[in-house]
Amino acid sequence: MISIRALQKSFRANQGRVDALRSIDLEVAEGEFCVLLGPSGCGKTTTLRCVAGLERPDGGEIEIAGKLVNSLARRVYVPTERRDLGMVFQSYAIWPHMNVFQNVAFPLTQGRTRYSKVDVADRVEKALKRVQLDGLGERPATDLSGGQQQRVAMARAMVTEPKILLMDEPLSNLDARLREQMRVELRKIAKSIGVTTLYVTHDQAEALSLGDRVCVMNAGEILQIASPHEVYERPASLFVAQFVGEMNFVKGTVEAKDRVASPFGAIAAAVPNGISPGAAVTLAIRPEHVQVAAAPSYGAATTVGKVMSKNYLGDAALLEVEVRGVTLFAKLAGDTELNVGQQAVVELPAQRWQVFAETS
Ligand SMILES: Nc1ncnc2c1ncn2[C@@H]1O[C@H](COP(=O)(O)OP(=O)(O)OP(=O)(O)O)[C@@H](O)[C@H]1O
Ligand SMILES: [Mg+2]
Repeated sequence: MISIRALQKSFRANQGRVDALRSIDLEVAEGEFCVLLGPSGCGKTTTLRCVAGLERPDGGEIEIAGKLVNSLARRVYVPTERRDLGMVFQSYAIWPHMNVFQNVAFPLTQGRTRYSKVDVADRVEKALKRVQLDGLGERPATDLSGGQQQRVAMARAMVTEPKILLMDEPLSNLDARLREQMRVELRKIAKSIGVTTLYVTHDQAEALSLGDRVCVMNAGEILQIASPHEVYERPASLFVAQFVGEMNFVKGTVEAKDRVASPFGAIAAAVPNGISPGAAVTLAIRPEHVQVAAAPSYGAATTVGKVMSKNYLGDAALLEVEVRGVTLFAKLAGDTELNVGQQAVVELPAQRWQVFAETS
């Protein structure tokens, strides 16, 4: 539905040229919820603005629903209002001098297509119902809560029933609890109308919970495009591993294709192709895969560590354990009897370790 090929965009800034997008390739399927995730300044908004037609790329092409909308080489540029898309941004930009109905009706009354009064009322009512604001049409927009205002912005983006929905950090102005509720709602709404969505966030938890696929970006490039599960379980590079979820990192040295020397001795971890014996690597393991239990008084075969800190999280406990001079985070389901200062048995299952080249 959205096809982005070799997209490039640079800006001229005071300090010189900024290559905001180096070469972005992305295919978003019809009905898919695709999330662009990455740190501040990596080019998420620029990508979205190019798709929206608000920014003119310096290279590459964009196709929407099989129609070329951007190509410098072929001298094609289709303006925003003819791209059949809805947009929601961080600042919801609802108009304070209008009521809810007028806000949502705005794209219908201003657009190229003329709608009858009855048709406008029908469509607005339908859009408000979708975001569970039915009956609030007459309310001044400013008399709504933050979450409700964001729903108005969503209803307005969808009132023309566009094929594509573009959202740029739409939830970041909401408090934590509301943000989580709206996350669930957003995905439900998008899926129920089958709209193709491109969604921007720098919040990895949001990306994992919302996306059919997550596209991890850094410095104007896409580093990995995969399902949330895949991105979390098999990060393609050290950067992705650092950015998505919590991770413990330790230095190691490759000894063989399936063996890495580490502070915990040799670990039977799979070494990616292209990394030769002798190479310095980073080993990574998730806190939930670090197993910690009270130290038994017998058996010296297991690794013994010491609990340095403990944070109770309600459904889990987060421990810092020192093992052979290395501090590791361990996340245990539920609570644990272990306390700070106590000795503990630490197990690091070999199959849970991931190996990354130092430069990846
Ligand atoms: N109009 C502009 N003029 C100059 N530089 C720009 C302009 N717009 C964006 N940039 C630069 O391009 C890069 C990418 O910016 P972009 O807004 O796409 O980042 P982002 O990933 O959306 O970041 P954030 O999470 O902070 O919103 C940044 O270095 C930014 O400073
Ligand atoms: Mg941005």
